[in-house]
Amino acid sequence: MRVMYFNPTGQLGGAETSLLAILSSVRHAEPSWPLHLVMAGDGPLRAAASVLGVATTVLPFPPALAILGEHGAHAETGGYLRLAAQLGRASPGVPAYIGQLRRAIRSFRPDVIHTNGLKMHVLAGWATASLPLVWHLHDYLGSRPLTATLLRWSVSRCATVVANSKSVADDARAAIGHGVKVVPIYNAVDLDRFSPSGDRADLDELAGLPAAPAGTIRVGLLGTFARWKGHETFLRALAQLPRDLPIRAYVIGDALYQTDGSQYSGEELRRLAASLGMADRVGFTGFVRQSDAALRALDVVVHASTLPEPFGLVIAEAMACGRAVVVSRAGGAAELVSHDVDALAHTPGDARELAIRIAALATDASLRARIGAAGRATAERAFDHTRLAREIVPVYRDAVSCQLVASTA
Ligand code: GLC
Repeated sequence: MRVMYFNPTGQLGGAETSLLAILSSVRHAEPSWPLHLVMAGDGPLRAAASVLGVATTVLPFPPALAILGEHGAHAETGGYLRLAAQLGRASPGVPAYIGQLRRAIRSFRPDVIHTNGLKMHVLAGWATASLPLVWHLHDYLGSRPLTATLLRWSVSRCATVVANSKSVADDARAAIGHGVKVVPIYNAVDLDRFSPSGDRADLDELAGLPAAPAGTIRVGLLGTFARWKGHETFLRALAQLPRDLPIRAYVIGDALYQTDGSQYSGEELRRLAASLGMADRVGFTGFVRQSDAALRALDVVVHASTLPEPFGLVIAEAMACGRAVVVSRAGGAAELVSHDVDALAHTPGDARELAIRIAALATDASLRARIGAAGRATAERAFDHTRLAREIVPVYRDAVSCQLVASTA
């Protein structure tokens, strides 16, 4: 079977890391299948896919299409006006872009197309009327009514929707209707790379700080600077901790995506830390390529998303590294963990509760060890590549056989 993947960026965010796990697990389970990845921008995703033996093509989005994004528009004053203006600027480039996708499809001749981002779901639906599409949803559609409407219009083109959690699957059914098969498939992580033993990043050096004294407990939030990832809650929680607690905090990551208005700048977060009197206790490392080494360098990994997290790959990765994780209890993230068993949980946006959880872990090494070991056991059970291949390969086979039945009927 020939599988073609469409991804809206070449950068390595959560959805792309998830895609790489799919490419790797399909490659192992079905070594003879030709896989081809089309990316709407160049970036580290390309080399990472090539290493797995996946052919790649970069078809850059026109700039106006690259910055188009509905996320946050419903909550922002004038958000839909901004989006309408963005749509107006992006639309003229769309027909030519669809032409490029069609040419790529003609040259690879896939049996199935797996799209890995909202813009790609819509564009692929317009680019082909005959091939089965698998839409991989990594985010909620409920907060993106315009995108949901576009997807409802194209849903007849789609064979299966894969959702990264049960929570995202439920939301998808509510947003695009019950006329399409929706299958929740959890992401996988590389359990050899994300493991308790291995290199540890020197976070102090990366953040330009003097080495922390021995015995310092390192607490960090790792992720893109999307506003809903809870950097502010994290910083406010830290500010509530007693000054004599021997902790050092790290903000690991950077602004990543091109979509407008949806992320903090590093400068903004530094100003916030300073205004909370935390400038000397928080290190900003920037983007760290070797995220496994960054996670292993932390004693406590904080996930603080203020909106329901669709899945929360960093949670799965941190658990696989045997770290003590504090999770914001909502959405798919809440499905991944059991409070006080393999993670501690707090209410999204509740800085006080988050501070209590961080303090509990920072002051109790045996609690950290217990939670970390249970987290690794959960990761081995729930997030391994073989399980992912077992679930995704039948999705492709079913999509193709349903299409054959439909076309011969
Ligand atoms: C998106 C979601 C995140 C998830 C990732 C991979 O980035 O927001 O929760 O972990 O996709 O599925």
